Amino acid sequence: MIKDTIILAIESSCDETSASVVFNGTIRSNVIASQDIHAPHGGVVPELASRAHQKDIVWVVKDAISKAKVKKEDLTAVAFTRGPGLLGSLLVGVSFAKSFAAGLRIPIIEVNHMQAHVLAHFIDEPKPPFPFLCLTVSGGHTQIILVEDYLKMSLLGETLDDAVGEAFDKAAKILGLGYPGGPMIDKLAASGDHLKYSFPISEIPDLNFSFSGVKTALLYFTQKYEASFIKENLSDICASYQYTLIQTLLRKLKKAIKTHGIKHVALAGGVSANRGLRAALIAFSEKERVQTYIPDFEYCTDNAAMIAITAHYKYLNNEFAEFTVGPLSRHSVMA
Ligand code: KG4
Ligand code: ZN
Repeated sequence: MIKDTIILAIESSCDETSASVVFNGTIRSNVIASQDIHAPHGGVVPELASRAHQKDIVWVVKDAISKAKVKKEDLTAVAFTRGPGLLGSLLVGVSFAKSFAAGLRIPIIEVNHMQAHVLAHFIDEPKPPFPFLCLTVSGGHTQIILVEDYLKMSLLGETLDDAVGEAFDKAAKILGLGYPGGPMIDKLAASGDHLKYSFPISEIPDLNFSFSGVKTALLYFTQKYEASFIKENLSDICASYQYTLIQTLLRKLKKAIKTHGIKHVALAGGVSANRGLRAALIAFSEKERVQTYIPDFEYCTDNAAMIAITAHYKYLNNEFAEFTVGPLSRHSVMA
């Protein structure tokens, strides 16, 4: 009789403590504890994040196992995010996963967080066919990735300074909108005029990006006007700024499609929750005659289901980690 593959996966790379159980390649549970303690600080405070992971990890794992309707003794492996991410946060997930697996005498699987964002597309239908391009947009990364197989990816281009998620979050801070700013800008932009103000689109060679210039342009813009003007025109400012970020992403995507002749394009990472970007990508796919794949909202921002599905493919490939493995704050998508 073939044994079931039941993997518990843990994600703790930033400010979300998450656990998921994947049963023969199907996600059975995906529990996420978000940390609101960072809001007053306008960004993630690493020390607070790791303490919150320590506080939440036990109940999150228990809940994920119970919601999956399995017993911990049924598990065949434990997976965890090894990196990239905040070292202290990663350490909580890595240490917990290793001790949990050691207690159960089952193997461990290390997962690259950026690969997992891409493989979130294999949780549900429709799944992109290989090869495809993936535009990964998150708080820490902006990458165009060529995906040739589940575990065979190469980096075609990336940001040389700020990630696009950071460009959203820093803009929100400049505009006094609180943290995390991406969803706030998204909400305000929905009722604004995206052509009212113009912000610069960076001209960076190859398939790389830069978002520090547009953020600085917004800062200068806000310094030029009275606070009351900014307040009255907030939706238009957010819409125009968001439009610039989206156009920057789509220009490079168009170039990557042309250079590599690939007609299947996926979107991944936290910023793919942005409604403006989702709508723009749908319009782009019709105009450029490419097939696009956009994940469910649940699988856009950090979650353990994407770690679990990646671990499933690594399990099938017999890719297990040694118990001496430690976290990596930097970890290439090609690793
Ligand atoms: O992938 P993710 O959850 O964490 C990282 O690995 O970084 O991405 C978080 C980023 C944050 O910068 C957040 O502001 C952004 O995703 N984000 C959004 C939206 N939802 C999350 N940005 C724009 N619009 C959104 N709706
Ligand atoms: Zn992420």
